[in-house]
Amino acid sequence: QGGSTVSITVVGASGDLAKKKIFPALFALYYEDCLPEHFTVFGYARSKMSDEELRNMISLTLTCRIDQRENCSDKMEQFLKRCFYQSGQYNSEEGFSELDRKLKEKENGYDCEAHANTYHQAGKVPNRLFYLSIPPNIFVDVVRSASRTASSQDGWTRFIVEKPFGRDSESSGELTRNLKKYLAEEQIFRIDHYLGKELVENLSVLRFSNLVFEPLWSRNYIRNVQLIFSEDFGTEGRGGYFDNYGIIRDIMQNHLLQILALFAMETPVSLDAEDIRNEKVKVLRSMRQLRLEDVVVGQYKGHSKGGKTYPAYVDDPTVPSGSITPTFAAAALFIDNARWDGVPFLMKAGKALHTRRAEIRVQFRRVPGNLYGRRRRSVGGGGTTATRELEKATNELVLRVQPDEAIYLKINSKVPGLGMRLDSSDLNLLYSERYPAEIPDAYERLLLDAIEGERRLFIRSDELDAAWAIFTPVLADLEANKVAPELYPYGSRGPVGAHYLAANHNVRWGDIS
Ligand code: BG6
Repeated sequence: QGGSTVSITVVGASGDLAKKKIFPALFALYYEDCLPEHFTVFGYARSKMSDEELRNMISLTLTCRIDQRENCSDKMEQFLKRCFYQSGQYNSEEGFSELDRKLKEKENGYDCEAHANTYHQAGKVPNRLFYLSIPPNIFVDVVRSASRTASSQDGWTRFIVEKPFGRDSESSGELTRNLKKYLAEEQIFRIDHYLGKELVENLSVLRFSNLVFEPLWSRNYIRNVQLIFSEDFGTEGRGGYFDNYGIIRDIMQNHLLQILALFAMETPVSLDAEDIRNEKVKVLRSMRQLRLEDVVVGQYKGHSKGGKTYPAYVDDPTVPSGSITPTFAAAALFIDNARWDGVPFLMKAGKALHTRRAEIRVQFRRVPGNLYGRRRRSVGGGGTTATRELEKATNELVLRVQPDEAIYLKINSKVPGLGMRLDSSDLNLLYSERYPAEIPDAYERLLLDAIEGERRLFIRSDELDAAWAIFTPVLADLEANKVAPELYPYGSRGPVGAHYLAANHNVRWGDIS
């Protein structure tokens, strides 16, 4: 018959990530007809569950986007019929052998009452994708057992893993070495879900396919770059995981650094995964190791507002009392290469702040000899004040990753009227107006890419090593010196230390105006 089948096994099927993100993303792909014709989804976890119970569990999490409402419930039903369950221990070869047996049944088209006559798969190449939605301490156990007993014989077998990839260079290196005992590099798909976000994908398009940006993309025109992540909620229940990592490992070393690498890399030879990843590695390796004096850490404390009380980080019952794990950090990073020499790349990431937002802000230099920035010699109505104001307003390009995806450029323009008053206003591409269809979730793109073998948005092991090399020394220093985080109230704008850090590098955060 020819062709192939794809089985997607979600290991850790009853976990939060699986329920919130992975099953819904698989369904959205199914709805859009993006999944291969012959696919099966398996859940694997320790608890005993029947196929029906898994389907019930998944069905509670599935939704249809506004533009996917047609036949939504029929589609859900069809999708659920393709979902099956296998229970087993994570380090158990028997469990995965049993899974292998069931996978083969589906791959060969037996026991398929759900689609009798509609897809008989015999003779097709069986491909298998495992999504490890489990804590990192059992990654290797699962990979060992699954790769030995449930790998595809004739097709490909791929494993998606998600951070944390260790806590520092050493533990990350050890994890990579252990994974590579059982898998080849091309079988490992390390996810950073920020790379699947629409605006992050658009960053390269904006840069490399518009003449007006790329020529300005260097120290000659850019004064500083800011990468900002904030959430308006705390760790709420995830404290047990979070306390062992902290915000630098949770957000900066991966999500923000990945964006930085895409932002700052040289033009790749082509859009091929290896060409892009080569450039990312190069720029990461040109970065200076982060120093303690270029980092500010904070932690949220309890706060009462409008009759409501918000807890401190240490009030989370899963957090050890007296913890000094940072829930906020700001850092100034530098790239020692010809393009970026001396340009501060500022990062800021925090939980329990006043707003939820992720954005990239690019502040450009002043216009040299700006005509409108000079104080006027001649007397002109209101001119002096206006031009003084203008001196401050340099161009700023903002890519708002979320929420309300947008790209806007702050420009100076004349306020209509007889006088000469200047104003800073926005050239604004607001996605909700220009592209009203709902934007797919990052996991949809990434799952589809993994199925198709497109590695562009996944992290190669040398990239991961380069990323850890930047942060490992400072993480060690913070821990060795027991640096106390500056406390900030839940729901505030974070520690003032972040402003001093920026000021040390002649920068003003752009998100406070
Ligand atoms: C995860 C972090 O990687 O990203 C979480 O572990 C964080 O702490 C989350 O909340 C943010 O993702 P998003 O897509 O909601 O911005």
